[in-house]
Amino acid sequence: MATNLTWHEAAVQKQDYRRKNGHYSGVLWFTGLSGAGKSSIANHLNRLLFEHGIQTYLLDGDNVRHGLNQDLGFSEADRAENIRRIGEVSKLFTDNGSIVLTAFISPYRQDRDRVRSLLAEEEFIEVFVDCPVEECESRDPKGLYKKARAGEISGFTGVDAPYEAPVNPECIVRSDQHSIQACAEQIFQLLIDKKWLN
Ligand code: PPS
Repeated sequence: MATNLTWHEAAVQKQDYRRKNGHYSGVLWFTGLSGAGKSSIANHLNRLLFEHGIQTYLLDGDNVRHGLNQDLGFSEADRAENIRRIGEVSKLFTDNGSIVLTAFISPYRQDRDRVRSLLAEEEFIEVFVDCPVEECESRDPKGLYKKARAGEISGFTGVDAPYEAPVNPECIVRSDQHSIQACAEQIFQLLIDKKWLN
């Protein structure tokens, strides 16, 4: 980090935004294999929250890699940097009073735990979108598993790159057993139970 920096206290604080919005702010960190349904569930939930007047922001892997993180690939180091930046952006939006939904494979436990440590304990909900790799591969919505098996993509998560499942996530949705809508509603209910929403 550079030196000679001074932190400025904001005149409008996180608590002020939360009071104005009428709900809590924090990060819903979706993690899971490619094709597990992270983006679909996060998008469905985002719509649900929006319709209830909740201030949200959705950060989605493929989309963020088109812009902010277009300089990053899929090596372990690049994935770590990808998740680090998203974690920092998520914290900014949390400070701004939003419920942030992030949909990234985020395959390494250490990277996810680093994001967790940026936030207060009650501000971070890890959502494990649990779906067996065989099911993800049979869905193969982007044809990427096929390419990985054919050797056209190397270092593909679940094929020849690791996925470290969460050990003790706040939420597990079984996207192989339940619909996108049911998974989103399960998380919505959790937000009520945790008093993020009134
Ligand atoms: S990570 O691991 O969290 O940094 O990945 P993420 O930013 O979520 O990007 C995952 C999407 O990139 C596409 N893609 C790959 N995924 C995994 N491994 C490799 N090698 C790879 N190459 C490209 C793929 O479309 C992922 O999107 P999802 O939505 O997960 O299927």
